[in-house]
Amino acid sequence: MASTSSTCILLFLFFLHSSFFFNNLNAKHSITNNHKHLHRHNNNHNPPLNIRLYRAFLALQAWKHVIYSDPHNITSNWVGPSVCNYTGIYCAPSLDDPKTKVVAGIDLNHADIAGFLPDELAFLCDLSILHLNSNRFCGIVPETFANLTRLSELDLSNNRFVGPFPSVVLSLPSLVYLDLRYNEFEGSLPTQLFDKPFDAFFLNNNRFTSSIPRNLGKSKASVMVFANNKFGGCLPESIVNFADTLEELLLINTSISGCLPIQVGFLYKLTVLDVSFNNIVGPIPYSLSGLSHLEQLNIGHNMMSGIVPMGVCALPKLVNFTFSYNFFCEEEGICKNLTSKKIVYDDRRNCLPNKALQRSEKECRAKLEQPPVDCFEVCCVESGFGKNVSVGSVAIPPSAIPVAAMPVSAPILAPRYP
Ligand SMILES: *[C@@H]1O[C@H](CO)[C@@H](O)[C@H](O)[C@H]1NC(C)=O
Ligand SMILES: *[C@@H]1O[C@H](CO)[C@@H](O)[C@H](O)[C@H]1NC(C)=O
Ligand SMILES: *[C@@H]1O[C@H](CO)[C@@H](O)[C@H](O)[C@H]1NC(C)=O
Ligand SMILES: *[C@@H]1O[C@H](CO)[C@@H](O)[C@H](O)[C@H]1NC(C)=O
Ligand SMILES: *[C@@H]1O[C@H](CO)[C@@H](O)[C@H](O)[C@H]1NC(C)=O
Ligand SMILES: *[C@@H]1O[C@H](CO)[C@@H](O)[C@H](O)[C@H]1NC(C)=O
Ligand SMILES: *[C@@H]1O[C@H](CO)[C@@H](O)[C@H](O)[C@H]1NC(C)=O
Repeated sequence: MASTSSTCILLFLFFLHSSFFFNNLNAKHSITNNHKHLHRHNNNHNPPLNIRLYRAFLALQAWKHVIYSDPHNITSNWVGPSVCNYTGIYCAPSLDDPKTKVVAGIDLNHADIAGFLPDELAFLCDLSILHLNSNRFCGIVPETFANLTRLSELDLSNNRFVGPFPSVVLSLPSLVYLDLRYNEFEGSLPTQLFDKPFDAFFLNNNRFTSSIPRNLGKSKASVMVFANNKFGGCLPESIVNFADTLEELLLINTSISGCLPIQVGFLYKLTVLDVSFNNIVGPIPYSLSGLSHLEQLNIGHNMMSGIVPMGVCALPKLVNFTFSYNFFCEEEGICKNLTSKKIVYDDRRNCLPNKALQRSEKECRAKLEQPPVDCFEVCCVESGFGKNVSVGSVAIPPSAIPVAAMPVSAPILAPRYP
């Protein structure tokens, strides 16, 4: 704590004695003007600004300067030194000094603002929550974010951020919630990401390409959403390391292949498992019958085959089971009549005898004539078994992508992404 404060003070002094920063931004003029405002206000009846709020003031002015569209006029009251009165800015007593007010949260969700994140946001050393969902921020996440040592929630979802995975977030000691979905980040994911003690991370709808690392460490995540990226590779057996916390695993349309490892069935806390729209082959592992909390299971649009096992259909909490667009050829016991269990299901386009809307006999015969899938052979071969396999280009309407329930502490400042 003390070191953070002194870093901040150093920063501040650095700022006072150097115009270099803002010369770079062509913002010197407006800052100087605002500085005059500060003194004028303080000569009136307002309490003097503490140094931490003053730093926040500098950061927010620098930010306002690189906002070039604000259709709802959210930042139009970002003038003068009373930063706690700015729309979207939330102050709270400092953790290390309860008598000092600091900027602890920023919530600009759904503001539709266009602009950048300037380096000066690093002055907001007390920031704990930064929610920027559904804006038009672009560019990259500044390296100076490393100074936001108290940041616990970072939501950059549904913006226009680009570049590689913003590795700076891996250095934030307090971060527990990371939401990068619906941006244009690209390239590979750092393996350290999976070892961070995050509660939840959302990476879906970006352009990440790397496969899931084979040797996952012990994550503390309860929700992992990777949908709509081009991962490739398999779901590794080491996913079992997440068993003590993982409740929702969404790998929709991530180009994963190989068999589902039996270890998925050891993720005993899972309530949602969705691996649809991939190139997964082989059977449904019997181990899935151990997922006693599972409510939603979607394995549709893969190349899986074999039996739909009774143990899965009998899961006590299951309410929705989608296994359409595969090559299943038999249903065990209760699976034949999921209606009787009040389970919503989709069994279309398989090779199930006596069921409607199945694949043609020709398609099914062609599949049967292929040698059976040997999961010991195909799983997690580094080159990616599924590389040759293609499901063609299918289109999932956005509404088909389940929105993961939010398990982490209720949104503190505002509603999340719909
Ligand atoms: C924002 O401010 C501009 C100029 O003051 C005004 O023309 C516009 O109507 C305002 N927009 C909203 C949504 O209030
Ligand atoms: C900030 O808001 C508070 C409460 O709404 C108000 O009492 C105070 O005068 C405002 N300060 C300034 C400088 O606008
Ligand atoms: C961030 O902190 C580091 C060290 O803690 C310091 O060297 C650097 O100048 C700071 N940068 C900014 C822009 O805040
Ligand atoms: C069941 O799950 C499928 C696939 O995730 C989804 O499209 C469908 O809307 C769900 N149905 C209900 C009633 O929840
Ligand atoms: C499924 O079960 C329900 C009630 O449990 C029954 O009415 C229905 O006839 C059964 N359907 C089939 C195809 O056996
Ligand atoms: C994939 O294709 C390559 C050549 O394109 C072939 O050598 C290899 O056997 C194929 N692998 C599988 C699993 O079909
Ligand atoms: C799958 O994700 C890719 C991006 O990796 C996207 O271009 C494509 O539209 C998605 N496919 C479906 C069916 O949503």
